[in-house]
Amino acid sequence: MNTIIEPFRIKSVEPIYFTTREQRSEILKKAFYNPFLIHSNDVLIDLLTDSGTSAMSSNQWAALMQGDESYAGSPSFFRFEKTVQDITGFPIVIPTHQGRAAEKILFGILGGKGKYLVSNTLFDTTRANIEFSGAEGVDLLCPEGKIPTVPAPFKGNLDTEQLRTFIREKGAENIGACILTVTNNSGGGQPVSMANVREVSTLCAHHGILLFIDACRFAENAYFIKLREEGYQDKPVPEIVRELFSYANGCTMSAKKDAFANIGGFLAMHDESLATLCRNMLIITEGFPTYGGLAGRDLEAIATGLQEVMEEHYLQYRIRSIEYLTAKLMEAGVPVMQPAGGHAVYLDARAFLSHIPVHQYPGQALVGALYEAGGIRSVEIGSLMFGKNDGSGNLIPAQMELVRLAFPRRVYTQSHVDYVAEVIIEVFAGRSQVHGLEILEEAPMLRHFTAKLQPIQP
Ligand code: F0G
Repeated sequence: MNTIIEPFRIKSVEPIYFTTREQRSEILKKAFYNPFLIHSNDVLIDLLTDSGTSAMSSNQWAALMQGDESYAGSPSFFRFEKTVQDITGFPIVIPTHQGRAAEKILFGILGGKGKYLVSNTLFDTTRANIEFSGAEGVDLLCPEGKIPTVPAPFKGNLDTEQLRTFIREKGAENIGACILTVTNNSGGGQPVSMANVREVSTLCAHHGILLFIDACRFAENAYFIKLREEGYQDKPVPEIVRELFSYANGCTMSAKKDAFANIGGFLAMHDESLATLCRNMLIITEGFPTYGGLAGRDLEAIATGLQEVMEEHYLQYRIRSIEYLTAKLMEAGVPVMQPAGGHAVYLDARAFLSHIPVHQYPGQALVGALYEAGGIRSVEIGSLMFGKNDGSGNLIPAQMELVRLAFPRRVYTQSHVDYVAEVIIEVFAGRSQVHGLEILEEAPMLRHFTAKLQPIQP
């Protein structure tokens, strides 16, 4: 088979900025070893997130000009609404300014004290919104999903046996909803199988529990189903997507991922009475229901992006580029999450920096080392992000210590990816020189965004 190429050509470019290793050491120190505090002009290859960082297509830029900015009843809204309805099958579509705004509204209503929200794995903002409502977020990921180096086709699956037990123990009436995150971002960008969605759906329906899809990367998940699940090889992606959503009562979506938009999101669902409660909150926090915190032009860009993302040459290239980097790293012996996820490569920092104990944040140390060595910005998904305090100052670590290299969509080329591989392999060779970190300052919630750290000198 020939090389799988980028299925686009470049019409507009922007510069990236080069720095020396000495400059980067200084920048990192000034940013307190937190990649969120580095100015993006000081980053060479920015893999902090795939969120809002995509390159829009010429059709999306053209669609922006079609944006109608009427406060109420804009044709841009109706185009957006119809696109989401056609793709998901959900009749009710409520725009929000991004994914977490949809979460805040929905889980403010379904959550609250005494409630549980269960999931394969909740993303950090989802968990934070659930906990902010007073409810408790519970992850019931399948066992294979918790071991980075063991390959399996659907490591994002929810453990249905555990779900059954959980329902029996806590009572269905105390479960606000079940949420399937597709793909499982915090667990390595791993997909959920259609069989798992179906089984979770049946179980939830039997107990009267609502099932919502966190749909940020729905097209990537659908393409994995096409590649890996019996019976889907010959199905077009839009059909797979439609089937996936058909098992749920609704979804939350960040359009900053699989809609190639720089901002935006939505809530979609079947239930009119729940939608009324959501719209009431929307008007207080986001805006009128036909724009929900977005400009008409954003709604246009999202509608166009949602159609483009299901194009199979794009998805083939997208999944292949992540797999390509994963394979290069594996060849060099670098411990990396297997198999490759949909939007990001995940390094297993616990194995990569096995000399750094978990309470010295090996993931964050690796993030710093990659920046210093090659100007690559990544993010820790480990105990800095998800760790808890046991009340006497000791860390309760996260399940895994991962470093995520998330690829913006349609932005970097194969030589950028080759460069990233070279830098990671170089850091791996010199890994004994990397030191652990300690926290100087942290916020009570989502601490990874603003925490200040410093290296622990041996
Ligand atoms: N759900 C998942 C699975 C996500 O990955 C994100 C965002 C959200 C919800 C929230 O959406 O940012 O539009 O409010 N993930 C980004 C990331 C931030 O870097 O993975 P948002």
